[in-house]
Amino acid sequence: MSEAVEYERVGDIAVLAANNPPVNALGVDVRRGLLAGIERAEEEGAKAVLIYGQGRTYFAGADIREFGKPPQDPWLPELCARIEASPLLVVSAIHGTALGGGLEVALSTHYRIALPSAQVGLPEVHLGILPGAGGTQRLPRVTGVEAALDLITSGRHVRADEALKLGIIDKVEEGDPREVGLAYVAELLDSGAARRPVSEMAAPAPVDFDAVYEQVLKKGRGQISPATAVRAVQAACEAESFDAGMRRERELFMELMASDQREGLIHAFFAERAVGKLPELKGVEPRVLHTVGVIGGGTMGAGIATAALLAGLPVVLLEMSQEATQAAKARIGNNLSGAVKRGKLTQAQYDEMVGTALTLATEYYELSGVDMVIEAVYEDMEVKKKVFAQLDAACKPGAVLASNTSYLDINEIALVTSRPADVIGLHFFSPAHVMRLLEVVVPDSTAADVVATGLSLGKRMRKVTVRAGVCDGFIGNRILSTYRTCADHMILDGASPYQIDTALTDFGFAMGPFAVADLAGLDIGWAVRKRRRAEGLDPRARDASYADKLCEQGHYGQKTGKGYYIYEAGSRVGVPNPEVMALIEAERAEQEITPRDFTDAEIVRRYMAAMVNEAAKVVGEGVARRPLDVDMTLLYGYGFPRYRGGPLKWADMQGLPGLLVDIETWAEEDAYFWQPAPLLKQLVAEGRTFDDLNKDAA
Ligand code: CAA
Repeated sequence: MSEAVEYERVGDIAVLAANNPPVNALGVDVRRGLLAGIERAEEEGAKAVLIYGQGRTYFAGADIREFGKPPQDPWLPELCARIEASPLLVVSAIHGTALGGGLEVALSTHYRIALPSAQVGLPEVHLGILPGAGGTQRLPRVTGVEAALDLITSGRHVRADEALKLGIIDKVEEGDPREVGLAYVAELLDSGAARRPVSEMAAPAPVDFDAVYEQVLKKGRGQISPATAVRAVQAACEAESFDAGMRRERELFMELMASDQREGLIHAFFAERAVGKLPELKGVEPRVLHTVGVIGGGTMGAGIATAALLAGLPVVLLEMSQEATQAAKARIGNNLSGAVKRGKLTQAQYDEMVGTALTLATEYYELSGVDMVIEAVYEDMEVKKKVFAQLDAACKPGAVLASNTSYLDINEIALVTSRPADVIGLHFFSPAHVMRLLEVVVPDSTAADVVATGLSLGKRMRKVTVRAGVCDGFIGNRILSTYRTCADHMILDGASPYQIDTALTDFGFAMGPFAVADLAGLDIGWAVRKRRRAEGLDPRARDASYADKLCEQGHYGQKTGKGYYIYEAGSRVGVPNPEVMALIEAERAEQEITPRDFTDAEIVRRYMAAMVNEAAKVVGEGVARRPLDVDMTLLYGYGFPRYRGGPLKWADMQGLPGLLVDIETWAEEDAYFWQPAPLLKQLVAEGRTFDDLNKDAA
C-alpha cells in the first residue's frame, strides 16, 4: 500500500486517508494509493469506502508539478472512472479545499459530505487548462449547465453552503472529516442508499453555447482556456454518450495542455508563491509588528493606512495640521466604505477601524510607540531627509523606518539617520489598498530582519511582495521607463499612440501605455522628463517634447478630461484627442523625421524586446534577485497579461537568440537605446533561459 494513502478498516467501511502534505495534491503516489485502496476494499468484501484527506485539506487538485512531464498510470480520468464504477458505496468527506482534480475525484464518488468551512471549485482555467478528469461532464449533470459554466469558466471557489444548494455536496456537518465521514457512511448503509454514479445521470439540457462561447472569449481578453472549457461543457449535453463527452473533454484538455498559455499561467502560479520566499532570509525572523505609523494622508498615505487597517494593524496617521488629519480620515473612510459596499467588510468592522484602530496625530512624538513608520510625503529628497531626521529622533529603537518613494535613492535617505540598518523602501502602487504589488526596496545597510519585516507586512496585506535593489525606478518603474521610451521612439518614427495602445491591448495588456499615462496623470512623466533633462541627458538619447506641450496647456489626462484621449465628464474611456497627432507631426517635422508605417506585430516585438532587455539588466545588476521577481512585478503592477507568464517567461518562450538578433539589428539605427543586456548575451551564448536562473535560485 502506498504511503500517500493510508488504508484502514472500520467494520464494513474501508477508509482511504490521503497523506500527501501540504495540500494532498493528486500526484502519482496518491493516485496509485487510491486505486490500490479501492481494489483492496473490494477484495476484502467491505461494503463501503470513505475517502478523505489528512492534514489541512481534501485533495487540492492534480499535482501541478507533473504537468508537461510524461504521464504515469493511473491517469486521473481513469482513476475517477474506476472509483465511480466500484460496486461498493464510495463516499467523500471534504474539508479544506476540493479543487480541480480534487473535486473531480469527489464527483466520481457516490455521495459527498463536507465541513461548513470547506470550499470546492474547478479553477483549472486559471492554469490555462480545463477540468480534465470528467469535471466538465459530471458537474453539469449535477448542477445543470448554467451553474457549471459559471463555476468552470470563472474558476471561482464555492463555499460549502452554496455547494450544498447547487447539489455538489449532499450534506454539511461540523466536526472532524474522518468522524463526520464515517457517521455519514454508516447512515447511508443503514438506510440502504444505492450507489449513485454521476455518469449514469441524464445529459443536462443545453443552452446557446455559441453565444456563451463568444461572451466568455471576449471576457478572457485573449485567454483561451475559459472559452475552450465552454466547448467541453457543450459536449456533456450534445455528445452521444458520457464516454464520448469524456473523449471530447480529453481532446480539448490536451490542446490546452500543449499551449504557451498553460506554460505562462503555471509559471505565474509558482512564481507568485516563490516571490516572497528569499533564500537569503531563511531562518531570519521578522521584527514584531503590532502598530504602524503613516506620514502623509494624501491619496497614497491614506491608501497605505487603509491597507494596514484592513490587515488588522492599528495606524497612527501623521499630518501637518488638524484639518489635514481630518481630510486624511475622510479619505480612509471613503476607501473603507467601498469595501463595506462590496460586502468585504461589515459595518462593525468599519466602525472599529475608523473609530478605534486609527489615531490621528500632528506631532512626531506621537509616533514613539509604533513598530514601523511608512513615510508617504511629497517626492522630494530634501523633504524626505527632513522627515527621516525627525523620525530618527522620535521613534523607539528597533522601529522600522520605511519610505514609500518610487525612485529616490534610499541609501541617501538612510544616511540622515543614526540607524541606517532600520531603513527600507516600501513602494506601494496607487491605490495602495487595491493594487496587489509591493516592492520592498533594500538599501545597502539594511538589516536582514528589517527586510523580513517588509515581506511579512506585504504578506499580512495579502500583497505580492517583491524584493528590489536601489536604482532609479527600482524594478518596475525602471523597466516601465525603458519600454515607454521605446513607444515614444516609435511615435517619432511613424506609429500613433492609438495604434500602439491597440496593438498592446490586443497582446493582452489591460491598457496601452498612453491610456495608462492619461490615467496616472501626464504631469508625472513630465516631471520625470524635466528632472532627467536637468540632470543632463546623454547626447545620444533621443528626446521628444510634444507631450510636454500637452502638459503646458494644462492637459494632464483623465483628471483634466484631456490628454492623449478626450474623456466625457465621468467617463474613464476616452476617444483619441485630435490635437495630439498635430503635435506629433510638428515634432517629426522639427526633427526632420520621415514617418514610416509600423505593423502591430513590429510594435509588440519592439516594445517587448525593450522591456525584456531592460529586465535582463535589472536581473544582471542584482536589482531583481531572480527573473521571476520581474515577472511578478510586471504582472501585478503594470497590467502584463498573466497568461503570458511575465516578460521574461514570454522571452523564454519566444526564444532568446531571436530576441537578441532583433535587438542587435535595431542597435544599428540607435546604438544608444538598444544596448543588449550582458545577461541576455550570456544566456544566449550558454544556450540557457531566464527560467534556468529561477531554478538555480530555488
Ligand atoms: N499541485 C502541486 N503543488 C501545489 C498544488 C497543486 N495542485 N496546490 C498547492 N501546491 C503547493 C504550493 O505550490 C505551495 O508549495 P510551497 O509551500 O512549496 O510554495 C504549497 O502547496 C501550499 O500552497 P499555498 O501556499 O498556495 O497554500 P494556501 O493555503 O494559501 O492555498 C490552495 C491552498 C487553495 C490549495 C492553493 O494552493 C491553490 O489554489 N492550489 C491550486 C489548486 C488548483 O488549481 N487545483 C487544480 C489543479 S489542476 C487539476 O486538478 C487538473 C485536472 O483537472 C486534472
